[in-house]
Amino acid sequence: MACVLTVGDINIDIVALLDQYPPKGGDALAKRGELHIGGSAANTALVLARFGLEVSLLGRVGSGILADYALQGLRKAGVELSLVQRDPEVPIGVMFIAVTPDGERTMFGFRGANTRLKPVRLGEGELGKLRWVHISGYALLEEPQRTAALRILETARQKGITVSLDVGMCTAIHAREEVRKLLPQVDVLFPNLEEARLLSQKEEADEALKALVERGVKLIALKLGEKGCMIGDGEKAFTVPAFAIDAVDTTGAGDSFNAGFILGQLWGLNLPESALLGNALGGLACTVVGAGESLPTPQKVVALLQGALASPTWEPWKGGLNHLLEILKGGTKR
Ligand code: RIB
Repeated sequence: MACVLTVGDINIDIVALLDQYPPKGGDALAKRGELHIGGSAANTALVLARFGLEVSLLGRVGSGILADYALQGLRKAGVELSLVQRDPEVPIGVMFIAVTPDGERTMFGFRGANTRLKPVRLGEGELGKLRWVHISGYALLEEPQRTAALRILETARQKGITVSLDVGMCTAIHAREEVRKLLPQVDVLFPNLEEARLLSQKEEADEALKALVERGVKLIALKLGEKGCMIGDGEKAFTVPAFAIDAVDTTGAGDSFNAGFILGQLWGLNLPESALLGNALGGLACTVVGAGESLPTPQKVVALLQGALASPTWEPWKGGLNHLLEILKGGTKR
């Protein structure tokens, strides 16, 4: 077993770049259409693997060629797939993603085989190396995937393995009480501002963060898009600015941020440096069309950090940026 396990959806994303959304019942022709690997857990796993971490994915796909395509891409990136189940009846999840010129994406789709994930018990050998379990909140929406995710969470808690949870918008809306109950068992929560608002019933980022920490979560990495992120653990809270990028498509930016923050923590970096790496990966994810195999490489992160170092705006963060560059240039296997 790898040192990180991600739990949740593996999808195929069909992405269309539109000038504007059609009205209900109308038509719109895309100026570009692409097919990508997607799914929150798959995206985070893929980025972690690209940066040299041993990462395994727990999820379920169908048996058709789209599922083969997704698994081939994940395997090629280095993700360990022995826990991925194949469903003989229901196809891989498929998401339709419409992206407008401001980079904003609108998404709808069918979660397919994902929701039929059967619970598994990890053996002692598999658990031995595991240092981090990352759960996508979408896994909490339907049975039996929900039970599968909760079982892994419980096992991780018993073994003292760090648990993170990416909330997800649908989960914040439809499973709010469940997420709130789980907060004391979560070491790192990754919400965006809307999700944090829904969970905490507080409007402002700092108030939402404080309220969620009071509900028992140990650390929150609150994703604020073009405003960067806010990190807080009850004693302190601070913001880390976003990198200047030209956003093309925000799909997968949150998943990529999660990977950066987890990487930083597993590499032994401090919180501001982990957040910087999260922001770098989240920002770069917005500069390309699609998630999955489009998500950032170490080379792209190095170029982004070098560019930031040359800018006076980043003067206060020079130490952290240099440290990240030193690590990334020294090779990403640590
Ligand atoms: O978080 C982005 C992902 O959410 C997309 O890749 C899509 O598949 C949806 O699950």
